[in-house]
Amino acid sequence: MPDSDDFDPLAPETFDSSHEVYRDLRARCPVAHTSAYGGFWALTRYADVKAAAGDPGLFISSVRAVVPSDPRGIRRPPLNFDAPAHTPFRKALERTLHRRRLAALEPVLTEHAARELAPLLAEGGGDIAAQFGSTYPAFVAAEWLNLPAEQVRHLAATAAAWIAAWRKQDGDLVTEKSNEMYRMARELVADRKQSPRDPEQDPASSLLSETYDGEPLSDDLVVGALRQSLVVGLVAPPLLIGGICVHLSRDRELQDRLRAEPDLIPAALEEFLRLYTPYRGFARTVSDDVELHGRRIRPGEPVTLVYASANRDESVFDEPDTFRLDRPNIGQHLAFGRGPHRCAGMALARLSLRVALTELLARTSHFTLAGDIEPTRMPELGAQRVPLRIVARPA
Ligand code: HEM
Repeated sequence: MPDSDDFDPLAPETFDSSHEVYRDLRARCPVAHTSAYGGFWALTRYADVKAAAGDPGLFISSVRAVVPSDPRGIRRPPLNFDAPAHTPFRKALERTLHRRRLAALEPVLTEHAARELAPLLAEGGGDIAAQFGSTYPAFVAAEWLNLPAEQVRHLAATAAAWIAAWRKQDGDLVTEKSNEMYRMARELVADRKQSPRDPEQDPASSLLSETYDGEPLSDDLVVGALRQSLVVGLVAPPLLIGGICVHLSRDRELQDRLRAEPDLIPAALEEFLRLYTPYRGFARTVSDDVELHGRRIRPGEPVTLVYASANRDESVFDEPDTFRLDRPNIGQHLAFGRGPHRCAGMALARLSLRVALTELLARTSHFTLAGDIEPTRMPELGAQRVPLRIVARPA
């Protein structure tokens, strides 16, 4: 590994500052190295990120999927598995996210969004990322996984504490909260073994019905996949919802336009995903020597695919820092990744975010920033605290 750093991922950041760092790296040093977090590479150009995500034989996920990675070295499917072991977990989760199920979920999610927004509307504001952004996605996950209603707020609080502990790199608290989510996952597996449900409607039953090499998936791995599923949809949405509200507070004209023309919300959401990509990048490890832009990455060395930087690459997206509703190539954004690990929950994420934004705009006359934005840290990007003043729409 090189002995000097090309960038410092531990430097203080603001909500907007990391984009300047990545712009500079794309131009000057597209394969950048840092010794932070034990040392890792960062690919920042769109073409390189896309090519690496699409080459899972060379850029493998089974060593680590994020930087910083789990200090205990725990690997859970599907994120930390390579094909062919990855495939049955992926198939099992996808089976539960078909169009009919999502269509049936829409009115249910609308009720959850309205109820979880109500306290902020009643109080004239609050922290949209930390409050609504942590509870509403837990209700979405609970609908997907068919969790008992009484566990949802407990999941929201446990996941929020786990995420905060990760950001502080507090190993003991990470373990404690992770163990609690393992307990919930084990309970789910025990229940579905006793009372199986329709695999197309229930991720735990779907995983239990899947096979690999003619054998059922092991209980431990099914529990691991469910433990991952409990939290995987809870990390990005608060940051994205926070980022969208920062943007709409700064651009009142757009806020009013989307409120008046809700049909524009799906297109706006894709542009927000590009601009405020909440996972700055997932990690891979190269399985062989890679030569790229004059640098050599050796087997075993971690590489982050910086999706957030790729999505603002000026060679792909004109005026990349500007919000545009009608970008002809918006379908190329990488906020959900690419290749075999592309977000398995993409359709549910899109639906739940559309519902959240629609409800927020429909129930408010306007909202503005009411204090300082608190940015998050690696491996995520965005705003984890977004205090808003909210003027509710008269009933
Ligand atoms: C704004 C919301 C979300 C964003 C931006 C997002 C983004 C991503 C990205 C970039 C990856 C790729 C990881 C990689 O390259 O290694 C991923 C993987 C994954 N996501 Fe999401 N995600 C979101 C919400 C969700 C939700 C709601 C679910 C669950 C229903 C979910 C389930 C998963 C799973 C299971 C994987 C692992 C896929 C695999 O390794 O095959 N995500 N997500």
